[in-house]
Amino acid sequence: MDRFVIEGGRRLEGRLTVNGSKNAALPLMAAPLLTDRAVTLRGVPGLADIANMRRLLAELGVEIGAAAERPTDPPGAGVTLRSADETRSHARYDIVRTMRASICVLGPLLARRGSAKVSMPGGCAIGQRPVDLHLRGLRALGATIELDGGDIVAEAPGGKLRGDTIFMGGPFGSTVLGTANVLSAATLAEGTTVIEAAACEPEIVDLAKLLTAMGARIEGAGSPRITVHGVDELGGAEHAVMPDRIEAATYMCAAAITGGDVLLERCPLDALLAVVDRLHAIGVKVERARPDQDAIACDVRVTAGHELRPVEVTTQPHPGFPTDAQAQLMALLCLADGNSVVTEKIFPERFMHVAELSRMGASLFRQGATVVVSGVRGLTGAPVMASDLRASAGLVLAGLAARGTTIVNRVYHLDRGYEQMEERLAKLGAAIERTGESD
Ligand code: EPU
Repeated sequence: MDRFVIEGGRRLEGRLTVNGSKNAALPLMAAPLLTDRAVTLRGVPGLADIANMRRLLAELGVEIGAAAERPTDPPGAGVTLRSADETRSHARYDIVRTMRASICVLGPLLARRGSAKVSMPGGCAIGQRPVDLHLRGLRALGATIELDGGDIVAEAPGGKLRGDTIFMGGPFGSTVLGTANVLSAATLAEGTTVIEAAACEPEIVDLAKLLTAMGARIEGAGSPRITVHGVDELGGAEHAVMPDRIEAATYMCAAAITGGDVLLERCPLDALLAVVDRLHAIGVKVERARPDQDAIACDVRVTAGHELRPVEVTTQPHPGFPTDAQAQLMALLCLADGNSVVTEKIFPERFMHVAELSRMGASLFRQGATVVVSGVRGLTGAPVMASDLRASAGLVLAGLAARGTTIVNRVYHLDRGYEQMEERLAKLGAAIERTGESD
């Protein structure tokens, strides 16, 4: 298994272009299941999760090819997807267990093919992760859903879903992929669907943009109430995947933890206001470099000195502070001058990084879903174990700032969500290498 070897203490400097968003791309790639026409996505990132999604879609009869490149294309691949064989509707456990986001084929399959069988995703390193809200939403659209041999078996009576008013809230707020599933399914349902307590994440807005380009009638995406007027058919479309707000947040924290000066190009600043707010409070400068650019994808300069102030941060649904950037910010707070409080309100168990950061000399006290971070003067390099994707990113950041050598084992977790992370960090001046030795 690959690992990263990091010699800490180098200041990051230079420029970096933000890649297309993983969490936007996954539901976008499922949308072509709603039509037999070709859908082209541009700026698809080269990640392990995207490769898994391609494998799943191929099993579901989707032909996937490279789109002709154009000079205006964003970074990443251009991919054309066409649902050529609409008889296959089984997303098998083999693939679903490697990637929970496979669940986002459920809504589109059910809406277009009238039935779907998707292996029930299990828990993962960040917690239990139920799918009850997805199922509740699809049932409200008239689907019958049963569990059989670990598979979710869903049918649309008479092959057609029908619109209704659906409440998508749960104990931890709304659900992003659940909203994506119901939104996609509702585009082809008979009549009008109102999704209340819909997820407001920018990735939902990006999905609604593609679905609208395909001919769907959607109002209110990005707000807690989305209204969808069903149509009989959707067509082909072209769409550029939004830039990855979590990748951007991660490199912001990387610049900050090394006292660096980094220009992020194509940064989705509008989607990062809560992150920027916390970074400002810590004493990190985050500024637009070119005020003439659209804040959905603009140049942003991140600079930091060595004095970091402690803060409180609570993860929340968008537009609150994203859970996907909690571990990275915690790594930064380990070096702040005083006590910070980090509370996780989306995935209360998402603290795999806490024990590993402690091995590097961080002073952390966890009680339930809250961690008190007492800032220390410095971290010390150590061998650590990557667990989930974002926890692993937090460890890499800690390694960049630590004295001596940090070895991050099992970097396949990072490859799921960060394209060529070590090369991108090395270009900014980090001493980081991937080695193939086993852990
Ligand atoms: N929840 C339920 N029932 C459900 C669905 C969710 O109780 O049916 C709970 C979850 O257990 C959690 C909360 O609701 O406590 C929010 O979960 P959500 O469904 O929004 O998460 P998701 O859609 O499965 C996406 C991202 C995650 C990100 C979360 C929260 C993708 C592919 N994944 O997951 O990204 O953490 O939203 O923003 O979009 C990552 O990229 O590292 C990652 C884990």
